Amino acid sequence: MGKIRTASSKTFDTSDTDSSISYEITEDETSVSTPTCSPSFMDPIEAVTKKPDNVLEKFVEIGGRRYFNDDSVKCFLPVDQEEIKRAHEQTCIDNTIWNGSYSAPISENLSLGASVLDVGCGAGSWMINTALDYPKSVFVGVDIIPIFSEDRPPNTVFLKCNVLDGLPFPDNTFDFVRQTYLIISMDWQSWKEKVVKELIRVTKPGGYIEIMDVDGESTNPGIMCRKIEYYLYEHMRKAGINPRSGQDVIKVFNEFDDKVIVAPIEERTYHLGKKAGEIGKATLKCIADAYRTMKIIFTHIMEITEEEFEQLLIDFEKECNEVTLCKTRYRAIIKKR
Ligand SMILES: C[S@@+](CC[C@H](N)C(=O)[O-])C[C@H]1O[C@@H](n2cnc3c(N)ncnc32)[C@H](O)[C@@H]1O
Repeated sequence: MGKIRTASSKTFDTSDTDSSISYEITEDETSVSTPTCSPSFMDPIEAVTKKPDNVLEKFVEIGGRRYFNDDSVKCFLPVDQEEIKRAHEQTCIDNTIWNGSYSAPISENLSLGASVLDVGCGAGSWMINTALDYPKSVFVGVDIIPIFSEDRPPNTVFLKCNVLDGLPFPDNTFDFVRQTYLIISMDWQSWKEKVVKELIRVTKPGGYIEIMDVDGESTNPGIMCRKIEYYLYEHMRKAGINPRSGQDVIKVFNEFDDKVIVAPIEERTYHLGKKAGEIGKATLKCIADAYRTMKIIFTHIMEITEEEFEQLLIDFEKECNEVTLCKTRYRAIIKKR
């Protein structure tokens, strides 16, 4: 599986960075990883250098894992080094499955120097990887949880913000705006009503928006898989999350057809488990690990013990190596008029 690169693994020449937003980041500034921002349009430099709020109060430790405890976040995954490693692995798998880290026709722009926004960037593995490939472009990541890696290229900036309060950038700022796995971490109604307008607003005319997410239940599931997914998707639906958002995303953007042009959705279906070789084994491990990190939720909603849940996962992994289980991811590509 591809290795995630970090800032220290490559040297950069950003002297010729050419973008409509430019950042001069000093050593001191890069070490500030927990700035806050107000919903008003804040100068990004001011935002990254602002003192952090007391985010530490929002973390809780349960069963040896660290979780973010905030009502506005519906992300069930923990926030710790182990999860950051798993998210990096997921990014590598996605880039392999899609044969690239994005699908929008923006490579020339990125090579020349573009402005990019990653909404709900998490630890920033997508941004770090892509920023290394395009040193002339500037990558800005926003997330409500400040876990963005400290070891990152100088052409990346992180801002802590709740996207439901709006994006702290002026209209028409970015050439490329993207989000991955944010829909499965957020109330669907809120995403539809608040986030979509913001994604469109901050994208430059002629720029692209790209949404990548999970599209529903697996194809050809075995008994164990069906059981896990049944409980998980029921739990997500109760939390207001749309686990089947692919075509719905297209419909939502089509409502703004005076502002955007929506391309047909792109999908990738991939096999899990040994039968699909190295990528299949890595994907199965990544998904089983994600379920493991949600142990507290599963044991609660399934009313089983931790031991019973671990046995269920062992059986699930065994089953995936025997059947040809498939999962689907989609990418929606939207161009701003
Ligand atoms: C499943 S993670 C995906 C992270 C990253 N995009 C990736 O692909 O690895 C979802 C992310 O969305 C962020 N998120 C959820 N609700 C948010 C909100 N209201 N504002 C900003 N970020 C939010 C979470 O903190 C989390 O980092």
